[in-house]
Amino acid sequence: MYEEFDDYDLSSKLNLKLWKKIIKSLTPYKKIVIWGLIAVAVLTFIETYFVKLISEYGFGKFINGESMDGFSSFIVLMVAMIIFEVIFVKIYVFSAAKIEMYLYRQLTGNCFAHLQELSYSFFDKYSVGWLISRTTNDTSRVSEIISWGLVDAISCVFKLVFILVIMIVTNARLSLIMIIVVPTILTIGIFFRRIVMKYSWKVRKAHSQVSSALNEGISGAKTSKSLVLEEKNLSAFSKIVDRYKRFSIKAAFINSSYYQILAVLAAAGIAAMAYFGGIEVVSGRLDYAILFMFVSYTMMFFDPVLTVSRVSNEMKMAQVAAERVYNIIAIEPELIDSEEVIQKYGDYTNPKKENWEKIKGEIEFKNVSFKYSTGPTILKNFNLNVKPGMSVALVGETGAGKSTIVNLLSRFYEPTDGQILIDGVDYKKRSIGWLHANLGYVMQTPHLFSGTIKENIRFGNLEATDEQVVAAAKAANAHEFIGLLEKGYDTEVGESGNRLSQGQKQLISFARAIIADPSILILDEATSSIDTQTEYVIQKAIGNLLKGRTSFIIAHRLSTITNSDLILVIQNGQITEMGKHEELMQLNGYYYRLYTNQFVEDRLKEINII
Ligand SMILES: Nc1ncnc2c1ncn2[C@@H]1O[C@H](COP(=O)(O)OP(=O)(O)OP(=O)(O)O)[C@@H](O)[C@H]1O
Ligand SMILES: [Mg+2]
Repeated sequence: MYEEFDDYDLSSKLNLKLWKKIIKSLTPYKKIVIWGLIAVAVLTFIETYFVKLISEYGFGKFINGESMDGFSSFIVLMVAMIIFEVIFVKIYVFSAAKIEMYLYRQLTGNCFAHLQELSYSFFDKYSVGWLISRTTNDTSRVSEIISWGLVDAISCVFKLVFILVIMIVTNARLSLIMIIVVPTILTIGIFFRRIVMKYSWKVRKAHSQVSSALNEGISGAKTSKSLVLEEKNLSAFSKIVDRYKRFSIKAAFINSSYYQILAVLAAAGIAAMAYFGGIEVVSGRLDYAILFMFVSYTMMFFDPVLTVSRVSNEMKMAQVAAERVYNIIAIEPELIDSEEVIQKYGDYTNPKKENWEKIKGEIEFKNVSFKYSTGPTILKNFNLNVKPGMSVALVGETGAGKSTIVNLLSRFYEPTDGQILIDGVDYKKRSIGWLHANLGYVMQTPHLFSGTIKENIRFGNLEATDEQVVAAAKAANAHEFIGLLEKGYDTEVGESGNRLSQGQKQLISFARAIIADPSILILDEATSSIDTQTEYVIQKAIGNLLKGRTSFIIAHRLSTITNSDLILVIQNGQITEMGKHEELMQLNGYYYRLYTNQFVEDRLKEINII
């Protein structure tokens, strides 16, 4: 039932091309990356060299009482190293954090910008939950692992190299033990780590199901209540949580066993070093301070090796996350302007408004056929001619194709065949930006953005003054109810306008459409879900909205469209009746039946019979 938002397939192969791309995206922050690397190198050097210094001098010479020569320089060196450590830890943390945030900003910024540009049809294919998970979880995962994880890995490589070099230079024979013993122990360790990973992978998957179940449960809470699904939902949810609990306990057990095995392995390695080194010390070939140093290094050796294996898994995770993020960024919008159109009219980010023609508002559908990417053909050879300033109403059963027609006109989709002409020119010959700047669309379910009423109206025209906002609200008949709200135009509407009623949202979206002053206006089912009183208010508002524009109204309540210049009855993507209200009534067909039924229904409602 629940979609998984967060699955990472770790069996994928190394994708070198992708990593090159990621590393290339760090070029603008080259300086910080270099500083980070220097800091890591200095820190690991200090850490490893410290052990040598303590063993050779502190332990071997001074504590032993051999000689106190050079004790003061030893102390100075120690203090200097500690000061350096403090400084470079700061540099290291600062650069890793900066790289993380830069990458995060770059990735989310690119995703966000790209999602804005993608076509309407893209959002038919990808769910909101999936996209949100990609743009939040995946982007932060990539930036986090690449900054901290990569720095960790590099620091480990440095550490391994430093330790090996110091050991070989100090005593090549004893280093040999390390070179033989450690890889053997490591192979065993890595083998067990795989098992641990497998389980933690299962836990994560189960956890992602819990999150998506919560997500659906919360976003659908109101619907569940109305359908009395609480108990069914709860039992489905309990099963998911139970599974998560089972996997988590098992994973915790395996994980702790893994660390026990590692501790035993590490102890075995240290014991081997102590044993062979001990023989050397006893036979007088080795100073015991050097043995102390070797044993310390053997202990230190396990830490970076384990980190490398952990980070390599994280890198795989980052790779999967990055692949998904870059895949979203790589999706081409399905509807794009041609090169010539962009040359003349500009694009989203750089519109050349000086070349935009003023729209008169003549619209022609010429042999338009259309099908969505899935499903059957919706429109077949659809023809329609609308003169500037005309108001056209579309009526018809649900699924007949009314919204499809206006979506095509708005160029949210393009005809699969045929043409749509605006002022006599195929609309593909002008830019999408040009059309959208001249077109107002009040959707079937109007969406408000969180913010104040004033801000929401102003989205129609960002340069509008407060006076213009009020004038638009008055024209949309919204001024009155806004005045009754505690904070008036500064009232917060809540997430997607939840604090307002459906009818109020509609009026606000009317005001938003009016303030943009579009030449073409589309209202989709503006009056479907409201009471008669609000319907009356909206009816009056619509009258104001239509003045001087070409308009399309899709209405289920026919009272709003009786004055339209042209009414189209749409059935199965075809126009079956067409004309003014009186003409269609005389036809005595579908429209007549629909109108009389509604009329009778309304009268009965008025006298309280139903
Ligand atoms: N995004 C889509 N992808 C695939 N098919 C779609 C899509 N949107 C609509 N359809 C299909 O196209 C047909 C026409 O839908 P449309 O939304 O135009 O109907 P409508 O007349 O506006 O109906 P309603 O009055 O219920 O809003 C329907 O059969 C519907 O299933
Ligand atoms: Mg519709």
